[in-house]
Amino acid sequence: MAIVGAGPAGLLLGLLLHNAGIDAVILERRSRAYVLGRVRAGVLEQGTAELLERAGVGERMRRDGLVHQGFELLVRGRRHRVDLRGLTGGSTVLIYGQTQITRDLLEARGAAGLPTIFEAQDVAVQEFAGAHPYVSWRQDGREHRLNCDFIAGCDGSHGVCRPSVPREAIREYERLYPFGWLGLLADTPPVSDELIYVNSERGFALCSMRSRTRSRFYLQVPLTEEVSHWSDARFWEELRQRLDEAGRERLVAAPSVEKSIAPLRSFVVEPLRFGRLFLVGDAGHTVPPTGAKGLNLAAGDVHCLADGLIEHYSERSAAGIDDYSRRRLRCIWRAQRFSWWLTRLLHRFPEDGAIGEKLQQAELDYLLHSEAGMRTIAENYVGLPPTFGEEANLLLRK
Ligand code: FAD
Ligand code: DHB
Repeated sequence: MAIVGAGPAGLLLGLLLHNAGIDAVILERRSRAYVLGRVRAGVLEQGTAELLERAGVGERMRRDGLVHQGFELLVRGRRHRVDLRGLTGGSTVLIYGQTQITRDLLEARGAAGLPTIFEAQDVAVQEFAGAHPYVSWRQDGREHRLNCDFIAGCDGSHGVCRPSVPREAIREYERLYPFGWLGLLADTPPVSDELIYVNSERGFALCSMRSRTRSRFYLQVPLTEEVSHWSDARFWEELRQRLDEAGRERLVAAPSVEKSIAPLRSFVVEPLRFGRLFLVGDAGHTVPPTGAKGLNLAAGDVHCLADGLIEHYSERSAAGIDDYSRRRLRCIWRAQRFSWWLTRLLHRFPEDGAIGEKLQQAELDYLLHSEAGMRTIAENYVGLPPTFGEEANLLLRK
């Protein structure tokens, strides 16, 4: 196997395949230090945590991860708790940073002596429509080539695999949002034991965490903003204004460890397989981060593809890999819907005018005071199982 990209999708797939005796080489454009330093996701669904466990990298996650049984919605100054465990019959999420997952996966890869080629330039995926695909790249001024059975495109939203597919073979669905998230990481205790998603008149905010001493915060900002316009002092002041009294009291400003802006978009391509090339994780779909689905979807793709490939090599059956695109797209669209909906519910959309704001507040008013509404939020947040609805389909087909 050739795997393009050493993000969480590529690293996790590589390890699961190795555990099943399947060789894979990972090609990564960036340096090892860059990959290890990237700050992103923080909320893991139980299925994702279980898959990391199966890959053999669960030890530190179980020790340092924080189990969260709920989170808070702060809407126009009033808090409402979403009781994940109570509303879903026992499901919770785990707070454990993507940075830590990447480190755990890279360490496991190193310990097993598996090949990862960092700073590979001009990676190109070739001949994947036929039976003999290969990947080429340049390094140290030399051309390299890897012949393989399959290529896993795990190279994120701006990679090379998706653009290599002929335009007529692929369909893209996209929505851009008129704002981004300005994120700040700091060594300061969280303002609450649980995450707080904030809908305020000044825009969305999120108080998250990585541990009991390290916090992650986000602010909705217009797309025209630049990180250089945001001193730490300005960030803390804006966050204070979006919080309630209790939040302000517990907020302890500290120097930022990292600060960056991420634009928000919903994006999916169909299908996710082109001959011997598979698109996995952000290479095939991007969700707006509200609801924390991106990394979890990537893990779901990896789970499905790894099982399909293991079936192919051990039982000579193509059933799993043939069904990869269909099965994953169903889960992906469900998560896209939730992320889009939660984004619409919690952010300010000034272009929707006064009526848009009133309708948003009315929808929140309904959801926050309806057990069915709260359960809708909770069951999507903890992650719908991949088989969700399949029993009903079977019944319908009978
Ligand atoms: P990536 O992590 O993007 O990895 C792709 C890799 O491919 C990179 O290392 C890249 O350098 C490499 N690459 C790219 N091009 C090439 C090339 N041409 N050749 C070789 N290598 C290449 N998700 C959650 O589930 N929960 C959250 O709480 C959450 N919060 C988020 C917060 C923010 C602010 C953002 C931006 C995202 C968040 N996400 C979250 C989403 C999550 O981070 C992504 O979905 C996840 O990183 C996807 O993993 P991936 O391996 O598919 O892609
Ligand atoms: C984080 C990111 C998210 O998108 C989210 O919904 C919750 C937490 C985080 O980075 O901690």
